Amino acid sequence: MSLPYNEQGHLLIGGIDAVSLTETYGTPLFVYDVERIRKNARAFVKTFEERGMKAQVAYASKAFSSVAMLQVAKQENLSLDVVSQGELYTALKADFPVEKIHLHGNNKSVDELEMAVEQGIGCIVVDNFYEIDLLTAILEDKQKEMDVLLRVTPGIEAHTHDYILTGQEDSKFGFDLSSGQADAAFERIHATERIHLIGLHCHIGSQIFETSGFLMATKKLFASMEEWRVKYGFIADVLNLGGGFGIRYTKDDDPLELDAYAHALINEVNEQAAVRNYPIPEIWIEPGRAIVGDAAVTLYSIGSIKEIPGVRKYISVDGGMTDNLRPALYHAKYEAVVANQMDAPVHEKVSVAGKCCESGDMLIWDVELPEVSHHDILAVMSTGAYGYSMSNNYNRFPRAAVVFVENGEHQLVIERESYEDLLRLDCSYKKGEESLT
Ligand code: LLP
Repeated sequence: MSLPYNEQGHLLIGGIDAVSLTETYGTPLFVYDVERIRKNARAFVKTFEERGMKAQVAYASKAFSSVAMLQVAKQENLSLDVVSQGELYTALKADFPVEKIHLHGNNKSVDELEMAVEQGIGCIVVDNFYEIDLLTAILEDKQKEMDVLLRVTPGIEAHTHDYILTGQEDSKFGFDLSSGQADAAFERIHATERIHLIGLHCHIGSQIFETSGFLMATKKLFASMEEWRVKYGFIADVLNLGGGFGIRYTKDDDPLELDAYAHALINEVNEQAAVRNYPIPEIWIEPGRAIVGDAAVTLYSIGSIKEIPGVRKYISVDGGMTDNLRPALYHAKYEAVVANQMDAPVHEKVSVAGKCCESGDMLIWDVELPEVSHHDILAVMSTGAYGYSMSNNYNRFPRAAVVFVENGEHQLVIERESYEDLLRLDCSYKKGEESLT
């Protein structure tokens, strides 16, 4: 891994000294290189534009949602995938164009659907029969209309961790294609005047390295669309193939190559359309990880160091599964460097432990680092996706701060949580004391 550093041997992120950032903002600290986010976003938009394909790139905000992040997504002309009222609320606060927001979720609440309808968002990705009925009633009540995509599970098992697989038949998401469930959903929507079905959606999983699953899904969606055209005269304007583009976390990962993916996908879409004489639909995709994943590093201070002779050396940092749940949840692998010793030679293999009271709170097993000591700064790479967004307060650790760097400048975009923040929602309970007196 060759990373930039200055003459003091300090890691540079977006041209800024990472160690000085920790002095200003403390640790643990997420640092996003905004230029990298923009590059990633532009690559997605460009790859379809260059091939003359009408497409929408919707940033899956679950990967990292904050007002600042959504402002960047807006500047880059992305659309937005939100999965909750909280994500929708954040998008509205970021002044994200409502017509470019798509709402997902396998159990959307009445409040969520009402907010989406009242705000007039671009489309809702309908997931189940209950939701169709709720939405119908809300639209009737408010005398409004809504564009929707029908989320289907095409029965495809992408090769990834079980917890982030979503396209297989046995899934909590969407309507199953093979059992006739999707047909029944189609019929119910077709009979509803206020809901306009503009196309189909599927998401086969996350951190996918091969294009073949996306192509198989495309074939299956076309087959369904054709059936519905024959039966009901339905023509889909949109084919949404979800997100899931794999990125490189470690040198062992061989990420999905974007141009090859777009090339193969567009060929498949054109071919499927041509053999059926079907109008070519707009392609929508929803990358999350591939937009922000490699754009951030997390900076930690190294504290205790424990060596079990002949067995292992543990170095503990001041964060862990509270700011990065992925190793504990998915056995996800990461690489790390010592941000204040970038010019030092590799010295030994160590394992990086978090500080939660939980043996599974290990950030990295076996990583080669220079000789480390207390107060060194460890930088864990590619933590931009599903790091901060899945952070939590286990052991009552306050959430980390987030900084954006761009053009040689840095700016705090999410403050570090304080202990007052942690207790803000706590209410005291004194009933027991009263009964004692
Ligand atoms: N669209 C839909 C419908 C999704 O469910 C997801 C992710 C995405 C797009 C974005 O997927 P991406 O391009 O980021 O892979 N917490 C897990 C990932 C869960 C993803 C859930 N859905 C992780 O840390 O790996």
